[in-house]
Amino acid sequence: MVQQLANAGVPTVAVARRGDRLQLLAESYPSVSPLVADLETDAGVDAVAARVADGVDLVVNNAGFGTSGKFYELDPGRLDREVALNVRALTRLSHAALAAMAPVGRGYLLNVSSVVSFQPAPGLAVYAATKAYVTSLGESLHEEARGTGVHVTTLCPGLTRTEFISVSNSSGYQDSYPEFAWMDADQVAACGLRDVARGKALSVPGVLYKAMSTAVGVTPRGLARRLSGLVQRT
Ligand SMILES: NC(=O)c1ccc[n+]([C@@H]2O[C@H](COP(=O)([O-])OP(=O)(O)OC[C@H]3O[C@@H](n4cnc5c(N)ncnc54)[C@H](OP(=O)(O)O)[C@@H]3O)[C@@H](O)[C@H]2O)c1
Repeated sequence: MVQQLANAGVPTVAVARRGDRLQLLAESYPSVSPLVADLETDAGVDAVAARVADGVDLVVNNAGFGTSGKFYELDPGRLDREVALNVRALTRLSHAALAAMAPVGRGYLLNVSSVVSFQPAPGLAVYAATKAYVTSLGESLHEEARGTGVHVTTLCPGLTRTEFISVSNSSGYQDSYPEFAWMDADQVAACGLRDVARGKALSVPGVLYKAMSTAVGVTPRGLARRLSGLVQRT
């Protein structure tokens, strides 16, 4: 997403923990300014919130990770970090964004959720719960902002080839899901940027995932839960 904004010449502040990678990005794209921050920490969130409060046209809350496995077998410290990043940091930065945008009556907030936000995901339970929060928050904020000139969009990608798969202990997914189920990060980013510019509430990239999310909406909850459990076991 940063590359797409930079290619369009949009001045962009890119946030991550790995400063060396941010530096390389800034060397390739002069319009990119690196901001090294760990959004699992108070100091990191404060630093980014302060930058957002200075005024920005678009805030993208993208950082997030998951943890595959049986809930009770997972490291509780890691789950704390997952909630801190996916929920706490995103909430705080959404707040900072809207507090800066509302008084001037313009701005765009794009929060990255997931298609797993639409149903429970046994085997990825905390991640799905954090993303259900992200989608619920985003849809509420979209309606709160209606007619104000501020736009809130929630991006809900399906399986996408990124480091997320290894970071989230989900490398087994590579072989479990067919080729057509995978999307490229570029496609997902382009869809999110297009839909936030259009002021859409939800952005679901790809025909497959659009169909799936529509189907989940009309499937009885118990059945959706069982099917989700079966898919996770494949
Ligand atoms: N890939 C998928 O299949 C998929 C599907 C649905 C939704 N999503 C969502 O898409 C979003 C982006 O994920 P991705 O697939 O692009 O994953 P990724 O390849 O692991 O990228 C995550 C990005 O966030 C940064 N980040 C991670 N933890 C951070 C922290 N504590 N503080 C600051 N920056 C941090 C990472 O940089 P550093 O490591 O250098 O900090 C990296 O730039 C996430 O919210 C994820 O839940 C992904």
